[in-house]
Amino acid sequence: MNITIIGTGYVGLVTGVSLSEIGHYVTCVDINEEKVKLLNSGVSPIYEPGLSELMVKNADRLYFTTSHEEALVEADVVYIAVETPEKEDGSVNLTFIERAVEQIANYISNDVVVVIKSTVPVGTNQRIKSMLPANINVVSNPEFLREGSAIHDVFYGDRIVIGSDSPDALKIMRGINEPFGIPIVETDLNSAEMIKYASNAFLATKISLINELANICSRVGADIEEVALGMGLDSRIGTQFLKAGIGYGGSCFPKDTKALVNIAEEVGYEFGILKAVIDLNDKQQHVLLNQAIKDFGELNGKTIGVLGLAFKPNTDDIRNAASLAIIPELINLGATVKAYDPAAMGQAKMVLPKEVLYQDSALHTIESTDIVFILTEWDEIRELDLQEYVNRMKTATIYDGRNCYSLDEVSQYPIRYFSIGRKYQKRGRLL
Ligand SMILES: NC(=O)c1ccc[n+]([C@@H]2O[C@H](COP(=O)([O-])OP(=O)(O)OC[C@H]3O[C@@H](n4cnc5c(N)ncnc54)[C@H](O)[C@@H]3O)[C@@H](O)[C@H]2O)c1
Repeated sequence: MNITIIGTGYVGLVTGVSLSEIGHYVTCVDINEEKVKLLNSGVSPIYEPGLSELMVKNADRLYFTTSHEEALVEADVVYIAVETPEKEDGSVNLTFIERAVEQIANYISNDVVVVIKSTVPVGTNQRIKSMLPANINVVSNPEFLREGSAIHDVFYGDRIVIGSDSPDALKIMRGINEPFGIPIVETDLNSAEMIKYASNAFLATKISLINELANICSRVGADIEEVALGMGLDSRIGTQFLKAGIGYGGSCFPKDTKALVNIAEEVGYEFGILKAVIDLNDKQQHVLLNQAIKDFGELNGKTIGVLGLAFKPNTDDIRNAASLAIIPELINLGATVKAYDPAAMGQAKMVLPKEVLYQDSALHTIESTDIVFILTEWDEIRELDLQEYVNRMKTATIYDGRNCYSLDEVSQYPIRYFSIGRKYQKRGRLL
């Protein structure tokens, strides 16, 4: 099949490359010329494990262009995977989607199936359908990939959701998706859109719940890791998303939770639990900073090492990462900030204050610092020997937002170690 993907970001590129892997001819079109230039030279503009390898392997079935006309005229199926950012009021900005739909209407005259991968408010797919000629069918096919394991998730995901009111379009989508060997949920357009928001709302709520429990654990002398283990073994609860930390970030949970609150408001419903989740997550991103201010009184003149900038490991994505909430505040408070991330420093340089001193390794980052904040649990950071903090920092003081070390291990070193929902080890001198 000739498949066209409009929008070659995290979702579009991963989708396009994966569809080429199962034998389709895929044309990816993007308005970002730099991105397309990179892609045409065989380089992935994003860091995603396994993606570059599949791009190289399937190079003869993958084509990248900035021309919508070229990309659309021969297409049998067109996926839209453009961004749907949030507006200031939390609602979804659909201008990128609308532009893509206009381009389809301009260049396509034959029968095609238009597949919406982007996350869009309930009712958007029906509106898109009404903007297109009657011979074009629309399918809602929300994406559930996780950045950092996106390729894995396409081939080993839990389910594929396809919503449409056209049996023909559903049949075509079944044909495309069956080779992935993943359960397919067929439904209507509105329910497919809602499944995406409902899933993210559930997961964000689970994260905020475990973070709230962690904040209580540290006050009552319980250990959140033990509590999460004991809870998670109950199959009704499950072990995933019970990792306490400094909150969720990324391009999806923050945006999609606000969008769902907004969707509910528009139909006269106040989504109280999700509003609380959003509020709690904002607070949680500041837990380490608040504790450091409590401990030190002020951070003016301190040298602070920040380990990890991406919103989670194995990605270079920093959208809504805790680093964006914390680092500007540290600089405003008069601290000198040294920072390191294995993949996200290029992205970070574009948005973080220019005063940040980027380092080429975790070891250089902790060198001669007063305080270290651990914000992302990259393996490279988790595996850093605690003795290195003792040797290199002025006095080893770690605020670990991702519980990278076991308390047993930490107890063998003269370190002040604050983590989430666990005992605060106050060994070592506070300078
Ligand atoms: N990133 C994720 O983990 C993830 C997971 C699930 C769902 N989603 C959803 O998928 C959608 C895309 O997310 P993303 O993270 O891949 O976005 P992104 O910002 O990484 O990529 C979007 C791409 O679309 C391009 N674009 C915009 N308008 C275009 C047009 N008219 N023609 C061609 N290209 C155009 C942009 O230049 C950009 O390269 C969003 O709705 C998002 O909520 C994202």
